[in-house]
Amino acid sequence: MLWGCRRIRSYRRNEADAPVSATTAFGSRLPELVTSAPGPASRAFTDRLRGVESRNVTFVGDGWPLFWEEASGSNVRDADNNTYVDMTSAFGVALLGHSHPAVTAAITKQANLLIHGMGDVHPPTAKLELLERLARLAPWDSAQAVLATTGSEAVEIALKTAQLATGKPGVLAFEGGYHGLTLGSLAVTSRADFREPFADRTYGGVSFAPFPEHWREGDRSAEESLASVRDSLRLGAPNGDPIGAVIVEPVQGRGGARLAPDGFMAELSVAAADAGALVIADEIMTGLGRCGAMLAAETVGLVPDLICIGKALGAGMPVAACLGPKSLIDSWPLSEGEALHTSTFLGHPLSCVAASTALDLTMDEGVPKRATEMGHDLLVSLSQRLSGLPSVGNIRGLGLLLGIELVGPDGITPLLGGAARVASSAMKAGVLVLPAGDLGQVVELAPPVVLKADQEMYALEVLENVIRSFS
Ligand SMILES: Cc1ncc(COP(=O)(O)O)c(C=O)c1O
Repeated sequence: MLWGCRRIRSYRRNEADAPVSATTAFGSRLPELVTSAPGPASRAFTDRLRGVESRNVTFVGDGWPLFWEEASGSNVRDADNNTYVDMTSAFGVALLGHSHPAVTAAITKQANLLIHGMGDVHPPTAKLELLERLARLAPWDSAQAVLATTGSEAVEIALKTAQLATGKPGVLAFEGGYHGLTLGSLAVTSRADFREPFADRTYGGVSFAPFPEHWREGDRSAEESLASVRDSLRLGAPNGDPIGAVIVEPVQGRGGARLAPDGFMAELSVAAADAGALVIADEIMTGLGRCGAMLAAETVGLVPDLICIGKALGAGMPVAACLGPKSLIDSWPLSEGEALHTSTFLGHPLSCVAASTALDLTMDEGVPKRATEMGHDLLVSLSQRLSGLPSVGNIRGLGLLLGIELVGPDGITPLLGGAARVASSAMKAGVLVLPAGDLGQVVELAPPVVLKADQEMYALEVLENVIRSFS
């Protein structure tokens, strides 16, 4: 992917046009750029990084990356003392804002007591307190959870649970879906560029159905997608394995904030149930308020048997979970001294207190409702500013997960790598966004719920200027 960089005019703030940042707390500020972005310090760190990290990990290009030093609320400060407005929540994690003071206080208190416990042997009480909250969050009367450290691991726990429960190892997943890159989760992630180098190692019992969309002529309809789903459920996976699980994101996140047509998810749930397959809702991006509800599955009509959450769960600490009704989670055998799935950091005390605090804050501060209202306003503003521009094919979203799909001159063909060019230019104006979509054609917006109105307005102006310059 080409991360071309283009300087845009007039957004470098100087003394004269600077906002009253001296009186505005870091967290709620407009961008303030004191050097180019990235500046000399980030560039020097990048040179050092190149020597010590696999070249595959951090993308290094002209004007990329920034090294982050500090973050609070909706602001990030880099190694050159530049302040940005973060419209990414750092991969969707900082929904409550970066470094929420209550989360920081909980981690600090816990760190003074117990940093690490023995998750599945002598568990920390913080693990129990988190599990009790998760049981209350889940949509079943008697719910249980298995904790994980990353979203990918939570997906693997769900896949293992489904296999134990149904005896059918095959899985149905969706084109454009993203569920992680570890070998087990990679098997259900659709993107060819991630899969191909490891094709010999990934499980072959996965069918990929088209994900329906409805904004462009030639899009796969809900009916076509459901026909493909039913065929796969009936015929089995490409390797002949019977299918025991359907994994789906209520809204495709990394796929580019893609929403299926109304009614699709409900019909998908029925098709899975009819075929004796469990529905795994991957809510790692959409859950915990981001899409306007604690769980987005309900909003889109998906009826899950198992739910994966992560990202915003730990408000910045690494923790994820697979939730299910006790009847299904009991497909795992009783531990007689060895857990079939565990890890050294399972139920890590710092992550658990961060997650418990984050869950309480999410409820107490009405985060889902705020995400709904803010997301609606953002979508309206984006549409007013960008609809009709030749390079904008579609603007969409649910709650605070939004996407701007960029297209080529014919108004249909995805603009390959276009979103990375937008991200680069926006960064130079102090606004952080990320590219998404299988072809890097979607500008994804997933801001924190604490984004201020003037920060939003500024980010919208920057995006409009950058995207207009493409048209
Ligand atoms: C929907 C979804 N599932 C799973 C994952 C994998 O989570 P992690 O990167 O924490 O392993 C992601 C990460 O972006 C995601 O968006």
